[in-house]
Amino acid sequence: MKLMVFPTAAQVDDAVAQRFVALLEKKPQAVLGLATGGTPVGMYARLVELYRQGRISFAKARSFNLDEYIGLPEGHPCSYLHYMRENLFDHVDFAPGAARVPDGHAADIAAAALAYDRDIALAGGIDLQLLGIGHNGHIAFNEPGTPWDSPTRAVQLDESTRRANARFFEDISQVPTQALSMGMKPILQAKSIVMMVLGADKADILARIVAGPADASVPATALLSHPDATVYADAAAARGLTSREVG
Ligand code: F6R
Repeated sequence: MKLMVFPTAAQVDDAVAQRFVALLEKKPQAVLGLATGGTPVGMYARLVELYRQGRISFAKARSFNLDEYIGLPEGHPCSYLHYMRENLFDHVDFAPGAARVPDGHAADIAAAALAYDRDIALAGGIDLQLLGIGHNGHIAFNEPGTPWDSPTRAVQLDESTRRANARFFEDISQVPTQALSMGMKPILQAKSIVMMVLGADKADILARIVAGPADASVPATALLSHPDATVYADAAAARGLTSREVG
């Protein structure tokens, strides 16, 4: 796992956006793995800006998002489909149906999960997977203890995750208890992974990951043994690292 530290979050946004530019220049039909949450908002804004400048196109690309809540009413403003439309999909040129978010309203969630993994495999797997990280080390909604060969499936959200995400809702009682989450397996099968880590509140978990060891109790430590995973951190998130770790 490589670690890159930038003075500001805006510089992280730009560096990660450039990874998408470089990939789509080389492989316009690339398969992207996309994340939601507070962390990538600025990076998506940068991608929209680059698209408007004619420096990136998603016209031949496909994407698979990491997760979606189960149990929110259709069209709920806190759904991850809504988030992706607002932050990216409505502003760039994905072909209709090419940008996918897990269907948290599927009548048969288990079948939808199976189909999601099958569709990722049929697309040839994910070329570039974007990740954020939870304070407990979760990636997607793979909470601590998740086996690394887990498929996409319905998961129970940790109470700490519900508390962290309550800031997007009116109050915590409205945060769903379940989500449909991409599994550790399809994530780790991505050819390249970029994980964005921003802000002082992520300093402890970033230090734990960089120090190792890899252990299922901290899901993001799975990246330590991935052949092409890079963490993009801002200085605030990296403040718990030693100068040797930062390199
Ligand atoms: C989002 C996701 C989550 C978030 C994580 C961090 O699709 O899968 O793992 O990346 O919870 O969230 P923020 O960025 O809001 O701190």
